[in-house]
Amino acid sequence: MASGNAELRERARALFPGGVSSPVRSFRAVGGEPVPVARASGARVTDADGREYVDYVAAYGPLILGHAHPAVTAALAEAAARGTAFGALSPDEVALGERIATATGLERLRFVNSGTEAAMTALRLARAATGRELAVKFEGCYHGHADGLLVKAGSGVATLGLRDSAGVTAGTAAGTAVLPYNDADALADWFARRGADTAAVIVEPVAGNMGVVPPGADFLDALNRLPREHGALLVNDEVITGFRLRYGLSGLLPEADLVCLGKIIGGGLPVGALGGRAELLDLLAPDGPVYQAGTLSGNPLAMAAGRATLDALREGGAHARLEELARHLENGLHAAARRAGAAACVARRGAMLSLFFRAAPPRDHAEARECDTDAFARFHGAMLARGVMLPPSQFETWFVSTAHGEADVDLTVRAAHEALREASGGPS
Ligand SMILES: Cc1ncc(COP(=O)(O)O)c(C=O)c1O
Repeated sequence: MASGNAELRERARALFPGGVSSPVRSFRAVGGEPVPVARASGARVTDADGREYVDYVAAYGPLILGHAHPAVTAALAEAAARGTAFGALSPDEVALGERIATATGLERLRFVNSGTEAAMTALRLARAATGRELAVKFEGCYHGHADGLLVKAGSGVATLGLRDSAGVTAGTAAGTAVLPYNDADALADWFARRGADTAAVIVEPVAGNMGVVPPGADFLDALNRLPREHGALLVNDEVITGFRLRYGLSGLLPEADLVCLGKIIGGGLPVGALGGRAELLDLLAPDGPVYQAGTLSGNPLAMAAGRATLDALREGGAHARLEELARHLENGLHAAARRAGAAACVARRGAMLSLFFRAAPPRDHAEARECDTDAFARFHGAMLARGVMLPPSQFETWFVSTAHGEADVDLTVRAAHEALREASGGPS
């Protein structure tokens, strides 16, 4: 007989730190047990005990078409039959690259295997291109787990970063400054003081890693202007937002010099990409002096899944439907929170959404941290009990896919009304 949830968890705990292969999956942030997923289809995942859930994790963003979309699985089956890895240029790699270049206007691309690699390579390239050492990131943004990006803010508003993980050297952390998100003045102050030493500013155009925190107009204006004025590069991390907010890039950072992509462009297989002007990307090996490589980069299965995903996404007004459905969910959750008397609010951009246990949506990480994470943990458990799988942290984004329907949203809103009552007032 197939193993159930409890047995899988126990065997996994003996094998993997925290019983998982990536920390958020442990459910520690909501004080629960991880739910092993045995299979998934459309908007639903099924756990190893056979219980089905409406899924808003969506593999943390790649699955904009939902799980096991027929066009993606067919493309994968065809590609697998032709061979799973070549260590060579392949037709699907060129086909996906051309689709991305056409949709984004990026002149050159380098495929990698993860968003982490894309961001890490972007900063290496920016340092090489500018001959400068410092990078700037924003508190609450996540750009993967390269050492130089696992950095948190020091005590001042604009200080060099402190390590945010054991094992990161103080020297590496000191190469990255951490500023508050959505604070144009802090960025201007930084450039006034350290502009001449700054190689790059890296940012999520819509933050998705402290829950959804959209950017203010003044912040976007500062990002689009200040790095260029000071000879630094702007790195636009669209690993989540690329092809999610619309077909192509978000359009929020038109002045970006380098763009990081991932998630959706791999259709659920491991992928990342770095893109930009030819004169910058051609600094990468073998044309230039910046080393970067990968055994499985441009892997034919990932390329085929990405190509099939982008082709399906371009058809039939997918983004308009996503917007409509996500708005329906947002409005339903708002109403549910009001009726339940819960101190909760909803933030949304396109098919990215968060329900925050806070009176008003946060504008930055300091405000996001004020959320009642205990209430979120109770809410998460109550939703799970009602068949809705939410990302297991207050600070992750819910992802709506084209596979979700009105019935899924209605079920979610009904469950949320009860779960919000339970989370806010304790079990009733
Ligand atoms: C904005 C952003 N950049 C980079 C990454 C890192 O991508 P990966 O997990 O594929 O390494 C993530 C992952 O969630 C992300 O959200």
